[in-house]
Amino acid sequence: MLSGKRIILGVTGGIAAYKAVFLLREFQKAGAEVRVTMTPSATRFVGLETFASLSGHDVAVDIFPEEQESATEWTRHINWGEWADLFIIAPCTGNTLAKIANGISDNMLTATVLAARSPLLICPTMDGEMYESPSVSENLKKVQKFGYHILEPESGFLASGLEGKGRLPEIESILKKAGAIIGSIKGPLEGKKVVVTAGPTREFIDPVRFISNPSSGKMGFAMAKAALRLGAEVTLIHGPVSLKTPEGVVSRSIISAEDLYNAVQQKADADVIIMAAAVSDFTPTETFDHKVKKGHGESSINLKSTTDILSWLGERKPDHQTLIGFAMETENLIENAGSKLERKKADWIIANSLSNKDTGFEADTNHVHVLGKGSENEFKGTKQEVAERVLKFIFDSE
Ligand code: CTP
Repeated sequence: MLSGKRIILGVTGGIAAYKAVFLLREFQKAGAEVRVTMTPSATRFVGLETFASLSGHDVAVDIFPEEQESATEWTRHINWGEWADLFIIAPCTGNTLAKIANGISDNMLTATVLAARSPLLICPTMDGEMYESPSVSENLKKVQKFGYHILEPESGFLASGLEGKGRLPEIESILKKAGAIIGSIKGPLEGKKVVVTAGPTREFIDPVRFISNPSSGKMGFAMAKAALRLGAEVTLIHGPVSLKTPEGVVSRSIISAEDLYNAVQQKADADVIIMAAAVSDFTPTETFDHKVKKGHGESSINLKSTTDILSWLGERKPDHQTLIGFAMETENLIENAGSKLERKKADWIIANSLSNKDTGFEADTNHVHVLGKGSENEFKGTKQEVAERVLKFIFDSE
């Protein structure tokens, strides 16, 4: 249940903070990716380097980090809030609980609570009579009304030597609760069949030469992962790339535009088709089965057009299907993308300019314009962030 999921682990200043280290390890063992945010007082109990080295990510404490690496770093709470599938605060002190109950956001952890789009699981832990105090009871009721999940503390010996209710539950119970919450999330593509095409095609002239393009497949693979995260059953049909298929995605590799056309035809009734592949527009009229000798002087190759797969799909689009194409342009981005949208009868076109090194074929980042259903929007970031934002935008608009 937790495999491939993104978890923010919030640690506050209680003695049980040390147990959060083991919780982090268990989440990782279950296949989750974890980022940690601590309140300043939590750092008195466990050094942030411990969480940083184990999570492999910076630990966020302040909204405004002292050594800001970039001008946008103070918006980390927004990015983290968008990134996570689950936010869990373990242990959660009475102080942080009170802040959450009242919308106070004076550190990274509490600001991320406000920014988070994911479910929030609070594991309150307190000593002595604190857990039974009227204000804690009121705050617990209040945060439950907000829709936040509570995992009640266990009874037993407390750090003060007193006995009572307030201990952090066993790691296994926390994991079980986290899994149940994540399992109950239904994404907008739940139960939908999504086909994504990615990467280049190769059109062979002879056994050692082909026509292709520099597509790395990164954007298509990011789209496949994004669709999976939204609950879809994803098939990824890709040309020659050196990328790992995301876990949970069914993949099929093809070589030529014709192979891709054949593979897509078999899946033409999918609920969503995303044509991110950089399909070759031309293929040699003749493919030699032996290496063509270079000879002397000039030589030429005759080419014929390949099938425009997106247009073929657009012509036969069933009512239940959302058809998404890409447009790679070097000039007049919006105008050319708009005419591709109409000409190919797609529902949406994701247009990117090839004139910038940060948005090209092999870059890890992208900047796209999304056109369709009379609306237009723009998204920037890593290819994964862009893929997730674009799909969210499209399926919120559908
Ligand atoms: N496409 C396709 N089949 C082709 C060529 C392109 O399905 N034979 C799809 C691409 O996967 C993409 C969209 O069409 O989703 C636009 O591709 P692009 O290369 O930008 O446009 P072209 O159709 O090739 O037009 P042009 O070369 O004139 O820009």
